[in-house]
Amino acid sequence: YHVEMDASETGKGAYPHYMLKEVDEQPAVMRRLLNEYVTADGQIKINADLLTALEAADRLYIVAAGTSYHAGLIGKTLFEKLAKKPVEVHVASEFGYHMPLLSAKPFFIFLTQSGETADSRQVLVQTNQMGYPSLTITNSQGSTLSREADHTLLLHAGPEIAVASTKAYTAQIAVELFLAVALGRHQEQAVALEFDVNHELTLVATGMEAVLSDKDQIEALVKHYLATTRNAFYIGRGTDYALSLEAALKLKEISYIQAEGFAAGELKHGTIALIEDGTPVLAFLMDQSTIDHTRGNLQEVTARGAQTFTIVSDAFAQPTDQIVLPQVNPLLTALVGVVPAQLIAYYASLQRGLDVDQPRNLAKSVTVE
Ligand code: G6P
Repeated sequence: YHVEMDASETGKGAYPHYMLKEVDEQPAVMRRLLNEYVTADGQIKINADLLTALEAADRLYIVAAGTSYHAGLIGKTLFEKLAKKPVEVHVASEFGYHMPLLSAKPFFIFLTQSGETADSRQVLVQTNQMGYPSLTITNSQGSTLSREADHTLLLHAGPEIAVASTKAYTAQIAVELFLAVALGRHQEQAVALEFDVNHELTLVATGMEAVLSDKDQIEALVKHYLATTRNAFYIGRGTDYALSLEAALKLKEISYIQAEGFAAGELKHGTIALIEDGTPVLAFLMDQSTIDHTRGNLQEVTARGAQTFTIVSDAFAQPTDQIVLPQVNPLLTALVGVVPAQLIAYYASLQRGLDVDQPRNLAKSVTVE
């Protein structure tokens, strides 16, 4: 499908589910974000006050819940690589009640699609009382967390209706990228000055489109690997590990398969005990420095009966790999890699006859702590 965004974007259109529509919209959201945040000659439109406040901080604290927390894990790498700024990422419901020892000059970034998550808000209330500067990155203009933080950046993703968050995750990572590049340039970091945001994010959009144009392949793989299983594991290292956490969350939320994301190197320290005959193990192989190690981990689980399934960047693909992704900038692999994971969750839910858009026990926005 090709999806144009227009005023009717709150409807499902020809789509059977909001989730599928929202997954499909992601390339358009990437391009829309480039329009909103980046000029044709690559300047990033983020106001200088915000950059000055970020530069003055000695550490960024990203606070979020659920999928937004997982987008924060990817953001940590972006800020540390492009702006050389140390980052801690925290689950809001933990941070608020067990606040760690803070650095001398913290800056708080709240990632929240809805802008209304109570767990995140209670942290913002505290950091406001402590007098620390803050930014909310949200899809919802005028939301509570937007109003109560010093600064707001919008996701421009359009309404996200399906409970399982998809386009908000990729939009959050894109906005974190803009902020990291802008901050890095503000601090004259060569890596940020040289980063061609228009080029790299356009490659991401076309890479996403390539994945989205081959849904049948993913549907067939799901039928083969995940039809009856009760559990499944995603593994990876570095940002592939951070992505594994999000991929597993998507799968458990809507298919009710018990799915977990593991750091591939940690398997041997305990979790490999879970592998039985036929256990599906899905690996992300996009982090060049650790691909060989993760392939080694796949051999270890295969020897113990696992059915392995690989999602790999084309530069590193072997004939036995299942899903091959177009190459993008190494800092942005999660943006393309998450798309097959979203589709895997979608088809697993569909094939089990479950309610894709409204999974049991979950709410789109959780306004209680
Ligand atoms: C709920 C939703 C999740 C979402 C989380 C955080 O639990 O079901 O999909 O990731 O809240 O929401 P937020 O709006 O703060 O990003």
